[in-house]
Amino acid sequence: MSPSKTVKIAPSILSANFAELGTEIRAIDAAGADYIHIDVMDGQFVPNLTFGAPVIKDLRRYTDKVFDVHLMINTPEKLLHNFVDAGSDIITVHGEATAHLHRLLQSIRAAGKKAGVALNPATPAESLAHVMPLLDMILVMTVNPGFGGQSHIPLNDKISTLAAMIKDEGRDIDLSVDGGVNADNAQGLITAGTNVLVAGSSVFKDGAEKYQENIEKLRG
Ligand code: DX5
Ligand code: ZN
Repeated sequence: MSPSKTVKIAPSILSANFAELGTEIRAIDAAGADYIHIDVMDGQFVPNLTFGAPVIKDLRRYTDKVFDVHLMINTPEKLLHNFVDAGSDIITVHGEATAHLHRLLQSIRAAGKKAGVALNPATPAESLAHVMPLLDMILVMTVNPGFGGQSHIPLNDKISTLAAMIKDEGRDIDLSVDGGVNADNAQGLITAGTNVLVAGSSVFKDGAEKYQENIEKLRG
């Protein structure tokens, strides 16, 4: 994506109040969120657990915004149909979590959903070379996945490499960054080629009346 492309903000509900998820989603929708970033963790691929498809299905009636579902689970192909049926719009899997990434991306698209791949910090951009035609989103992890509130790992070279790969592909593919994104590093990420900023703790702070201001600060 070129830096001039409109930047989308995807608040991560990992930092929301889990006892009030529906209310929190309505609040970030009203505050100007573009995508709702939903982190699913299995306690195996990452050292933390969140929730599964039934929760996403129940949240679906709280907003019409894009559900950007980030699956941090091993062998996501086993549960894919649950996340399709729950009302996900974009389904992002980790390249490190499946032996058959190409087939899995085909399956996501065959189900009528947008397909994304997330890359852990140590996974090179070039690992996506042979699946570019199947991608609608690339999610660059700038923390080791599992928790909100971690320090951002600067990987702007990797982001620029992926932006160039997307340009070569010649289609709109979202280039998303997830982990420690805040008002201080957002502009650098956008300059490197990011067009979707995922942010948990920097959006869900200081109470719901601040969500709009927090989102606007990320847009710059
Ligand atoms: C981490 C998750 C992120 C997390 C980001 O594994 O994928 O989406 O919520 O949280 P912050 O923005 O606080 O780093
Ligand atoms: Zn995430």
